[in-house]
Amino acid sequence: MKLSPSILSADFANLERDVKLVEDAGVDYIHVDVMDGQFVPNITLGPNVVKAIRPTTKLPLDVHLMIVEPERFIEDFAKAGADIIAVHQESTPHIHRALQMIRSFDVKAGVVINPGTPVEAIKHVLPLADLVLVMTVNPGFGGQSFIPECLDKIAELARLKKEHNYSYEIEVDGGIVPETAILCAKAGADVFVAGSYIYNAPAPHERIEKLREALE
Ligand code: DX5
Ligand code: ZN
Repeated sequence: MKLSPSILSADFANLERDVKLVEDAGVDYIHVDVMDGQFVPNITLGPNVVKAIRPTTKLPLDVHLMIVEPERFIEDFAKAGADIIAVHQESTPHIHRALQMIRSFDVKAGVVINPGTPVEAIKHVLPLADLVLVMTVNPGFGGQSFIPECLDKIAELARLKKEHNYSYEIEVDGGIVPETAILCAKAGADVFVAGSYIYNAPAPHERIEKLREALE
């Protein structure tokens, strides 16, 4: 079980401090949410911020692109130091090419599906995926409620992985708190993104411990 805190809910004026805080608490990845105000109704950060965070941590940077035509920026995020780049199936007509492009920069390739998108839509690119991210809220904002209908998709991805011997990790993102993390773990999730639960707390390391305890 891996934890990937989303810095979307961190203090943007103190990103280095907030990344170190969760690294010291023993998390596995740092989740970076990139939004362009078009694919989702919010704007966050770009490759320059990834580049600035890169030297502040040894942890892999798990970069989640919520932007239209992500192919335009894959090289920039790879060069900025992303270790994983995940692109939405819904954001490009050429998801296969986008995943190939990510791999061509020696970066792990992730494919993401929105709550309304079935697993069927990414079935044919699963051999190319190092990570499959199942959105458990509609992307755009932190602090939303978990959508339980997404659990079936996690189970389906776990089944396909076993059946075909695929190597992807299954990641969940949105509304993750101990109770929903347990449901996702039971369905077969490996990596848990949590933003507001971890950062909107006086002691984020206690929230990380609570998530770990729930997932034990
Ligand atoms: C939503 C982002 C998430 C977000 C999760 O579009 O992809 O990573 O930070 O926030 P919480 O954990 O608060 O639902
Ligand atoms: Zn995310």
